[in-house]
Amino acid sequence: MVMIHTSSPEETLHLGQLLAALLKAGDVVCLCGDLGAGKTLLTKGIAAGLGVTEDVTSPTFTVLQVYEANPPIYHFDLYRLEHADELMDIGFDEFVSGSGIAIIEWADKFSDFMPEEYLRIEIMHGATPETRTIQVQPQGNRYESLVEELKKIAGSCFRNVNTGF
Ligand SMILES: Nc1ncnc2c1ncn2[C@@H]1O[C@H](COP(=O)(O)OP(=O)(O)OP(=O)(O)O)[C@@H](O)[C@H]1O
Ligand SMILES: [Mg+2]
Repeated sequence: MVMIHTSSPEETLHLGQLLAALLKAGDVVCLCGDLGAGKTLLTKGIAAGLGVTEDVTSPTFTVLQVYEANPPIYHFDLYRLEHADELMDIGFDEFVSGSGIAIIEWADKFSDFMPEEYLRIEIMHGATPETRTIQVQPQGNRYESLVEELKKIAGSCFRNVNTGF
């Protein structure tokens, strides 16, 4: 895994843009972290990196927002969902195994329903209001190689990157 410390919203946005360059069709990104951690901001960075120009916000009430990009982005927010049945109702499995990039806020709420392999990103508040610790953890071979790539590029973009574990 890799741990990256950002010290402003812009840096987290930038990390999202770097991630966009590494993601490909069919990938799944599970985002975890408290309210206001920066899950949507990171998603915004990924979307911007893939050429999305419209505003990206938490799809808290709609649960899913699709952004037409190449590949398309399926942005989920599971915060308000209470039952796994609701996941099925919105066709969660079809999207997640589909040909776009699925980005899932509050994925930890339904961890049993996540696919076998995914990129898990946990964002934690830091000591000051604008600092965050972002832990990027691969689940499966595909994402292990993605994290290796990220280590190479993140090291030159962020002052504070810890690798290993
Ligand atoms: N280093 C940082 N990285 C990310 N966000 C930061 C940082 N510093 C401050 N912020 C602020 O924290 C907030 C993060 O909001 P965001 O909507 O991305 O959180 P979220 O995790 O999606 O929350 P929610 O669970 O409510 O959807 C923004 O207002 C952003 O400006
Ligand atoms: Mg959000």
